[in-house]
Amino acid sequence: MLKVDNMEIKKKIEALCHEINNYDYHYYTLDSPLVSDAEYDKLFAELKRLEEKYGYIIPTSPTQRVGAAPLKAFTQVQHEVPMLSLDNAFADKDIDAFDQRIRERLGTQAAIEYCCEPKLDGLAVSLRYEKGLLAQAATRGDGATGEDVTENIKTIKMIPLILRGPHVPRVLEVRGEVYMPLQGFKKLNAQGEKIFANPRNAAAGSLRQLDSRVTALRPLEIFCYGVGVVEGIKLPENQCDILQWLSTLGLRVSPLIKVVHGAEGCLKYYQTILAKRDSLSFEIDGVVYKVNSMAEQQKLGFITRAPRWAIAHKFPAAEAHTVIESVEFQVGRTGALTPVARLKPVRVGGVTVSNATLHNMDEIKRKDIHIGDTVIVRRAGDVIPEVVGVVTARRSHDAKRIVLPRHCPVCRSHVEHIEGEAVARCTGELFCPAQRKEAIKHFASRRAMDIEGLGD
Ligand code: IVH
Repeated sequence: MLKVDNMEIKKKIEALCHEINNYDYHYYTLDSPLVSDAEYDKLFAELKRLEEKYGYIIPTSPTQRVGAAPLKAFTQVQHEVPMLSLDNAFADKDIDAFDQRIRERLGTQAAIEYCCEPKLDGLAVSLRYEKGLLAQAATRGDGATGEDVTENIKTIKMIPLILRGPHVPRVLEVRGEVYMPLQGFKKLNAQGEKIFANPRNAAAGSLRQLDSRVTALRPLEIFCYGVGVVEGIKLPENQCDILQWLSTLGLRVSPLIKVVHGAEGCLKYYQTILAKRDSLSFEIDGVVYKVNSMAEQQKLGFITRAPRWAIAHKFPAAEAHTVIESVEFQVGRTGALTPVARLKPVRVGGVTVSNATLHNMDEIKRKDIHIGDTVIVRRAGDVIPEVVGVVTARRSHDAKRIVLPRHCPVCRSHVEHIEGEAVARCTGELFCPAQRKEAIKHFASRRAMDIEGLGD
């Protein structure tokens, strides 16, 4: 351990701890994040680096705990087998290093067998089955103590209330991830007064409802990826077979799971899943590699926060922070004015984004978007980037309100905004060059006159 006399560094570490703890509180306890995942991951990685470099770790450091304290309103559940976290890796070389460490610890040069799984972006739950019956369901909470969400879990139709098959164990705790599919998430956000920043917060907010009737209306799903306490049965000898066995009991397991060999096999899997990412109906934020052999897992064991035998290989974040530099209004075929945000270019999900649709004035009002605001931009499941919310804490005093122009930005005709309607329209009709151009394009398009050779 290095000694730090440097007050500045101590202060920086303490400030980072404070900042991350504050984000954790908003994210975990209030289900209402202040920053994007990417920003959070960056801060966390920076704190970890500084702590390791200077050997200065304060007791309240977020690196020293598994999660956040559960809310008081639910009954608390002690996890007999703790629900741990995973270490994160971002680069290929981190995976090589992970694989190297494992081979060293196991004293072998032979290629390690890994079970590769998608890393679902939801919330971890533990489902306890006694004699095949769902007896209790708990959230992960801080990893040691969670909340009893049995009634809520029971509303998720794909979770069996009774296990299938003739050989059910006396006790089986199944661990899995509850998440909200993208389509359900979009629908929920479009209809509700409360806007969730991403599917994960929507799933957490939905599952941690005191009124399970509300949960029943939310589109929640689960994928199971492990076990906790098991009594009265001999488990299969590797991770992949355990998952296969769980599926025979009627539990939902991802179809994207695959056994590979060595770091090379892991990296190939990463590319395969990354290529599929945008076509999946749910959000994943990476993949997980687990040493397949349970005997080897046992030999490798755990460190404070995570197992040594597994690692999460994260994808480029689907969310990022950026600033709205200006807002322009585009005129469509029917004269509808669509506000488009011009953004300070930012990398999201592996591509550079510089524009995002703001849909209409109602959306702008609902999300309280101003020019100059720092916003969270997302692109997931589809290609059109969206502004999901404003980081109001970062609003500057000279942020400007977005006003609907009174005249069409293209033809200067009067803009009509009928009370109660979401869209405002240019009244210029075919006099307006923008409407005219769009009308001709529409006329010539494949689904209309299909005029070959007449394009944009
Ligand atoms: S295994 C002891 N497998 O990621 C290992 N976790 O960052 C514990 N997650 O708390 C986790 N997909 O909520 C595992 N296929 C997967 C996962 C997965 C998503 C979540 C889970 C966990 C978090 C850790």
